[in-house]
Amino acid sequence: MPAPKIIAANWKMNSRKMAANALAKAVAAGTAGTGAEVVICPSNVHLRCAGLGIAGSHVKLGAQDCSFREDGAFTGDVSAAQLRDVGCSYVIVGHSERREYHCEGDELISKKVAAAHRAGLITIVCVGERDIDLADDVRLANVAIQLRNSLPACANALNTVIAYEPVWAIGSGKTPSAKQIEAMHKAIHARLPEGMRVLYGGSVKAENAAEILKLPGVDGALVGGASLDAEAFKQIVAAA
Ligand code: PGA
Repeated sequence: MPAPKIIAANWKMNSRKMAANALAKAVAAGTAGTGAEVVICPSNVHLRCAGLGIAGSHVKLGAQDCSFREDGAFTGDVSAAQLRDVGCSYVIVGHSERREYHCEGDELISKKVAAAHRAGLITIVCVGERDIDLADDVRLANVAIQLRNSLPACANALNTVIAYEPVWAIGSGKTPSAKQIEAMHKAIHARLPEGMRVLYGGSVKAENAAEILKLPGVDGALVGGASLDAEAFKQIVAAA
């Protein structure tokens, strides 16, 4: 049997505690019995209320980032062990918004991935080219470098999931063609250990989820904007 598709919700810096709890509950109720692995990644301040919303359900809890350091005097940072302690089993690392707004590079991301693994978290490691108008071979070369440098030696098919997210597709309503997504996922899989799953992210919506998720090599989706709408997210999970 193929591994279940992973549909991960990246809520980014959105919501308030009551709404986060309600959305979590709606996701748990609306995606039960689909067979997909569903993960919600609220902001750190909502991990508890969202975690309560999915308690006892199939839905897993994830964070959007973690420190590369162990616990200690690092004001404002959150360690992977702390995330694990409040119920996370996943953490997104190297999202393009972290790369861009916090100047995170592959070397730091690799250290974060290793720290997350030491704490027992599964990492969703994001890669993707920045510009829409790059030639296919250049896009692939960019992504290949990110893969090579962002994954520590400890990354394996059990503790790591890749999210291919073209930066220009995030929040823009634009997506690569089905052919381009398929080719990129094939090329990414060829560079990874056997069985490591590769999600697609970037403007996944209820309307395009089925088409994207059925492509060979697409093992799930990382969903931003549409994951804030319980009904749209439910339809995306159903498409998986
Ligand atoms: P989007 O975001 O679905 O809103 O494009 C995806 C992401 O940033 O992970």
